[in-house]
Amino acid sequence: MTAEYKVHGDVAVITLTNPPVNGLGLSTRIGITEGLEKANNDTTVKAIVITGGGKAFSGGADIREFGSPKAIQEPNLLSVIRACENSAKPVVAAIHSVAMGGGLELALGCHYRIAAPGTSIALPEVKLGLIPGAGGTQRLPRVIGVEPALNMIVSGEAIKSEMLAMLPGQKLFDAMAQSAESLPEEALGLARKVAAAHADGSPLPLVRNLPCKHPQGDAYFQFTRNMVKGMAKNLPAPVKCVDAVEAATKKKFEDGMLVERDIFMNLMLTPESRALRHIFMADRAASKIPDVPADTPKRDIQSIAVIGAGTMGGGISMNFLNAGIPVKILEMKQDALDRGVATIRKNYEAQVKKGKLKQEKYDERMALLSTTLSYDDIGQADLVIEAVFEEMGVKEAVFKKLDEVMKPGAILASNTSTLDVNKIASFTKRPQDVIGMHFFSPANVMKLLEVVRGAQTGKDVLATVMAIGKKIRKTSVVSGVCDGFIGNRMIEQYSRQAGFLIEEGCTPAQVDKAVEKFGFAMGPFRMGDLAGNDIGWAIRKRRYTEKPDLKYSKTADLLCEMGRYGQKTGAGWYDYQAGKRDAIPSPVVVEMIEKHRAALGITARKISDEEIVQRLVFSLVNEAAHILEEGIASKASDIDMVYITGYGFPFWRGGPMNYADTVGLFNVAEAMKRFAKNPHDDAQFWQPAPLLARLVAEGKTFN
Ligand code: NAI
Repeated sequence: MTAEYKVHGDVAVITLTNPPVNGLGLSTRIGITEGLEKANNDTTVKAIVITGGGKAFSGGADIREFGSPKAIQEPNLLSVIRACENSAKPVVAAIHSVAMGGGLELALGCHYRIAAPGTSIALPEVKLGLIPGAGGTQRLPRVIGVEPALNMIVSGEAIKSEMLAMLPGQKLFDAMAQSAESLPEEALGLARKVAAAHADGSPLPLVRNLPCKHPQGDAYFQFTRNMVKGMAKNLPAPVKCVDAVEAATKKKFEDGMLVERDIFMNLMLTPESRALRHIFMADRAASKIPDVPADTPKRDIQSIAVIGAGTMGGGISMNFLNAGIPVKILEMKQDALDRGVATIRKNYEAQVKKGKLKQEKYDERMALLSTTLSYDDIGQADLVIEAVFEEMGVKEAVFKKLDEVMKPGAILASNTSTLDVNKIASFTKRPQDVIGMHFFSPANVMKLLEVVRGAQTGKDVLATVMAIGKKIRKTSVVSGVCDGFIGNRMIEQYSRQAGFLIEEGCTPAQVDKAVEKFGFAMGPFRMGDLAGNDIGWAIRKRRYTEKPDLKYSKTADLLCEMGRYGQKTGAGWYDYQAGKRDAIPSPVVVEMIEKHRAALGITARKISDEEIVQRLVFSLVNEAAHILEEGIASKASDIDMVYITGYGFPFWRGGPMNYADTVGLFNVAEAMKRFAKNPHDDAQFWQPAPLLARLVAEGKTFN
């Protein structure tokens, strides 16, 4: 049982004991209903307190039960809340730390509520593509008012208890405790007080009986609905929050509850909610590595050294400064250091100007930053991250030096995006301490961190880097060593398809539009212009000698030969006006493509948006299936996290693998077979990867 029952004099206290956040799993729910029954049968008990042990009142549903029969088994949350309401003896919720989702709904089913200051109060269901399903949309407006309640429900954001306590006329809290420490005593006091007040048998207050009205009713809801629709383009849940709260103001309580239930059940089945729930779980799963147990010892990381103060070195440093960890940057020349530090300053100053960063914080962060030209100064760092030029010779020199100067036990990381981490490790006599930390540009902004596990990387090193990734608030995903790791290896196939599409008849703008309509932040050609088309060019030049049989469209090379590297040269796949980032379709580029097509003897054909999207997205999926099979990624959900956090894949589609599962892998494989028959495409590539073929044969999914 994960709820404890104790009698303190004439008050029974039910304490939820389901760490970490007292999720309302089956055994906790049983504990609450049994406790209520016991208390009601005990003549010495006059009142009941429900509270949470440890670090929360309750964080809501128990995510470990998601999708299992236990999640809805009786007593379900609605029944537990009903048991609270029906208790003949007053039930007081003593709330502290966290009361979210089902936890808040439970509290709203109690007769009285007392809260400690600093408690985070939220109905975050919308973040999973749902609405609250146990009366939250019907009860919260009754205690804090329609507008504040709807704001909380639509945003899912937490608000501190003391802020809510200040709302005029609020009935959410009957009392605020002095502190979390004094809450248990004060809750007992409140319980005794209300027991005495109801000793005469007067009815106990129920939130459901409170009125719920909005003075501008229809106009307010219409306005809000339009606004929410505009903001939540691809997500159905936010607008449904408006519907549910509107029902609270227009229907009897029980009828409003039915509206809420109905909406909840329907949302549960939407692909968007499935995708959001998938991401929620995938995010948590990413930090779990099959052969690295959670209790693997970690090394202590108190200080960082960064080699190279360029684009990446500066951004990487900022992550650690933001987390309060001192950073020392090493460069070859003073002016490079000065430039690097100036860029960091400029970034922070922009944040200060926008009011996003306080001056003191900025000062604190800059005080943690130091620089050096000498390796003698960095030997004591616990973790060193190399971000120098992308050349094996340069990496070799740096890692040999690091091997000489770094203290034993220091972790040596490389930010390389294309080089072999095992080779880099071999430059040292401590390959177990070497690892890849592949940040994405801009490194202080992008959420993704690919943690590249070398053949000899120590488990403790891996565990430590995953933990530090969490500390700097990255989504860390483990990748094995291969060319491009997870993300870039897949994007190469996607880029190849984009090239074939323009050879066959598309314009860059048409491809970009189709992909952006699908939900990508940016299509492949706008992306190329932003990142610099010369980067792909360099990689292709290498491929032409490494893999001479691999087919590429020549168009991207022709573009680079014209000097059109992208935004940085003012022209790429698109034209750009000075100082602006708007991509203007370029007649010169279209002409280049048409000439090239003619030279190949291809007659342009009209390609549907559906085909464009399928070829691009399924190319990611097929390469990902190879990546999974080779063990480069340990689970499909990791690949989804890489694409959502690093490559602008629409999060509400749950990542490429989740999307493929939604489409059905049979359909995905059928499409691939069709594409393989296209003489202008790469038939070899479109053979479904063995893993994909196996899953199709077994009727299974990736996730
Ligand atoms: P960058 O050219 O902006 O910066 C490199 C810096 O390293 C320069 O300031 C240079 O002076 C310094 N440097 C070169 N050799 C050095 C040495 N021996 N000792 C000390 N400092 C040295 O390059 P960027 O873009 O920051 O890339 C650095 C690394 O990050 C490369 O391995 C690159 O592949 C990787 N990377 C780059 C991404 C990007 O989008 N730019 C994304 C992910 C990884």
